[in-house]
Amino acid sequence: MTAKPLTVLGLETSCDETAAAVVRLEPGARPEVLSNVVLSQIADHAPFGGVVPEIAARAHVESIDAIAGQALAEARVTVRDLDAIAATAGPGLVGGVMVGLSFGKAMALALDLPLIAVNHLEGHAVSARLTAEVPYPFLLLLVSGGHCQLLEVAGVGACRRLGTTIDDAAGEAFDKIGGALGLPYPAGPALERLAQGGDAARFPLPRALAGRDGCDFSFSGLKTAAARLAAGLTGEQDRRDLAAAVQAAIARQLVERTARAMKTYARDHAGQSLRLVVAGGVAANRAVRAALQALATDQGFGFDAPPLAYCTDNAAMIALAGAERLTLGLTDGLDAVARPRWPLDEAAARLRPSHVAGRKGAKS
Ligand code: KG4
Ligand code: ZN
Repeated sequence: MTAKPLTVLGLETSCDETAAAVVRLEPGARPEVLSNVVLSQIADHAPFGGVVPEIAARAHVESIDAIAGQALAEARVTVRDLDAIAATAGPGLVGGVMVGLSFGKAMALALDLPLIAVNHLEGHAVSARLTAEVPYPFLLLLVSGGHCQLLEVAGVGACRRLGTTIDDAAGEAFDKIGGALGLPYPAGPALERLAQGGDAARFPLPRALAGRDGCDFSFSGLKTAAARLAAGLTGEQDRRDLAAAVQAAIARQLVERTARAMKTYARDHAGQSLRLVVAGGVAANRAVRAALQALATDQGFGFDAPPLAYCTDNAAMIALAGAERLTLGLTDGLDAVARPRWPLDEAAARLRPSHVAGRKGAKS
C-alpha cells in the first residue's frame, strides 16, 4: 500500500458517452472527484432509436482528446500530476472501447505512466464509493441498459455472480417500451416522468420468474406485452397509466429477485454488517431506488445508491476503479485488449452462460 495520494485520469467510451474524469485517492480518505466530463452522443443516435455502433465509434474518435483535455483543465492538473491512466477495456461496443483504450495506451506510453484496463462493470460496482463510505463486501444490484446482475462484491476485482438476466436488461425494457410509447431514446428518464400521475394498477402485466428459485431476471415478456399495449394507446392518461404499470412491474421484479439474493448473501455473511448497493443507469429511477431502499430496510441491510450523475455512464467511476487497482499494484500492459464481452465473474459466466439472444444482453 502506498501512502501517497494517487491522481488518476479515467476514460470511458464503451457506449454512447465520451467521458473523462480525474479522481484523487488518498489511502484512508474519501476519493476526491477533481473533474467529471461527460459528452453525450444521444442526439447523434436519437434518429435511429438506439445506439449505432459505427456512429458511436466515430464520435468518440472526434472528441476523446478534447474531453480528456477538458477533464485535466477542470481538475486544474496537468499530465505531470497524473499517477496512472485508467481506461474502460470492455464490455461494450468494441469500436468505442478501442478508441478510449488506445487513447489511454498512447497517453500511458508517452508519459511513462501505468495503464489500468478497467472493466466497465467494475466501474459501476465502485460508483457508490465515489461519494459515500461503502466498505467491502456488499451485495450489488447492477442495473443498466446492457446489464442486470446481482453480484457479491468482496473487494477490488473480487465479484461472485448470484444472478443475471436470461434475456433483456431492465434498462433495455425501459427503452423499448418507452420507444413504443413514443418517447425519445433513451426512454428511461422520460418514462419515469410520464409515470407520474399514472395508475399502476390499471394494466396487468406479466410477472416473469415470480416465486421461482434463483436470482435471475427476465424482462422480455414484459417488454413485448407492454410494447403491444402501448401501440394501441393514444390518450394521455392511458399512456401515463401504462408507464406507471411498467415502472412498477420492473421495480417489483428487481425487488423480488434481490430479496432472494439477500437471503443467500445474509447466510454467507452471518454476523457481518450487511449492505445493498444499487448502481447503473436504472438506479437513477426514483421508484426503483425507493423500492430497493424499503427492501433493504426491511431486511436489515444498509443501502447505498450513487448520486444520479454517477448512476449513468461516467469516467469518475472508471478512474476510481483504476485507482483502487493501482493501490494494490494491479496494472496492465500495453497489450491489453478491448473486449466486447467481459463478465465480472468469469467463472460463473462460463459455467452458466446467461443466454445467447438479446442485442445488448449478450454483454452480460
Ligand atoms: O449505465 P448506463 O448509462 O449505460 C449502460 O451501461 O447501459 O444506463 C443507461 C440505461 C438506459 O437504458 C436508460 O434508459 C436507463 O439507464 N435509465 C433509466 C433512468 N435513467 C437512465 N431508466 C429508468 N429511469 C430512469 N430515470
Ligand atoms: Zn454502464
